[in-house]
Amino acid sequence: MLSQQAFNKMGAGPCARSDPMRSTFMIFMAIAFGFFIGTFFPSSSSSSISKLSISTNLLPCMEASCPKFGAQEIKDQPRSSSLVSNEIHNTSANQAQGDIWVPTNPRGAERLPPGIVVAESDLYLRRLWGNPSEDLTSQPKYLVTFTVGYEQRRNVDAAIKKFSGNFTIMMFHYDGRTTEWNEYGWSRKAIHVSVPKQTKWWYAKRFLHPDIVAPYDYIFIWDEDLGVENFNAEEYIKQVRKHGLEISQPALDPSSRGLTWRITRRRDGQEIHRVTDENPIPTWCHGPREPPCAGFVEIMAPVFSRDAWRCVWHLIQNDLVHGWGLDFSLRRCAKPAHEKIGVVDSQWIFHQAVPSLGNQGEASQGKKAWQGVRERCKMEWGMFSKRLAAADEDYLRPK
Ligand SMILES: *[C@@H]1O[C@H](CO)[C@@H](O)[C@H](O)[C@H]1NC(C)=O
Ligand SMILES: *[C@@H]1O[C@H](CO)[C@@H](O)[C@H](O)[C@H]1NC(C)=O
Repeated sequence: MLSQQAFNKMGAGPCARSDPMRSTFMIFMAIAFGFFIGTFFPSSSSSSISKLSISTNLLPCMEASCPKFGAQEIKDQPRSSSLVSNEIHNTSANQAQGDIWVPTNPRGAERLPPGIVVAESDLYLRRLWGNPSEDLTSQPKYLVTFTVGYEQRRNVDAAIKKFSGNFTIMMFHYDGRTTEWNEYGWSRKAIHVSVPKQTKWWYAKRFLHPDIVAPYDYIFIWDEDLGVENFNAEEYIKQVRKHGLEISQPALDPSSRGLTWRITRRRDGQEIHRVTDENPIPTWCHGPREPPCAGFVEIMAPVFSRDAWRCVWHLIQNDLVHGWGLDFSLRRCAKPAHEKIGVVDSQWIFHQAVPSLGNQGEASQGKKAWQGVRERCKMEWGMFSKRLAAADEDYLRPK
């Protein structure tokens, strides 16, 4: 009975799916428990506590990354089993396990004692050896992601050099070429995600969950075709902090291609701006505080604070991969939008509008690849607007 409980408990870990491994482990545990029962009963010295943590930490290794350790290693430490069983014998602890229900824990984790719940993660790289507390030589406070194809490497390399060591660099590869980037020194420390022919909003939704990127004060989600001669990321962050911008973008050089909205255009001699300088206010704005006259940035080079990103992530739809229309709705995630959303003039970029990902579409029915992509962009914009309007209406309808 005793050992049955132990097996149930231990079998639920990462090794659970591996049956041969599990049976090996069960045999070992049976031996260990026999040994334990035959020798001594209670012991709670601190030395055996540390043994326990060593042996349980080795369990996942038996399956995956540490094949040279495992059963033999644990057998060499027979006393560790006394602690495993000690824990099982401790009836007050057992009762507590059955009783635990913490509604304030994250959804799904209510049965765990809050002290063990790790609700958020990070993108910091760790070592396979040594003391975990000494793994990190620095903990970057900012994250920058680029969605890239190898063809744009020179441009991307130039951009990344504008981001200091305070940034974690994450690369989303849409062309399947990753190792080639190792010609650049920074690439070996970057995080590479390679999925063919996806857009940056597709990657962002899947790999930048707010609970994963929680340690970062600011998150840059950038395109690959930006000219950065007049941009420095640390200086940029000073500006957004100073002016309290939750969502921002660097101003666009007036000679940029595809400068769609006047508000994103750089104004000389100032730090930031929040509203367009068009006068009178164009009719498509529906008012001076409405996008794209205020509360507006474009989606080519947005920068989000942690809190704003936690909201925006939820706004991104799984199927609407181009993000068109998102720019008009960002204001929902930073209130009041006409104060918390702005354009940084003192650090600016140049938009080169290289239609690289557009060319990854498929030509069909006499249409060029980029035309199909463009049509989808527009269609998505319409679908997103409809969904949002329907959601508003549904929420506001008297119940
Ligand atoms: C038994 O469990 C209780 C409650 O978790 C704990 O306070 C106590 O220290 C444990 N005793 C031993 C011997 O581990
Ligand atoms: C990194 O951040 C720290 C703390 O904000 C700052 O003092 C330092 O100057 C930054 N590094 C660079 C290269 O700007």
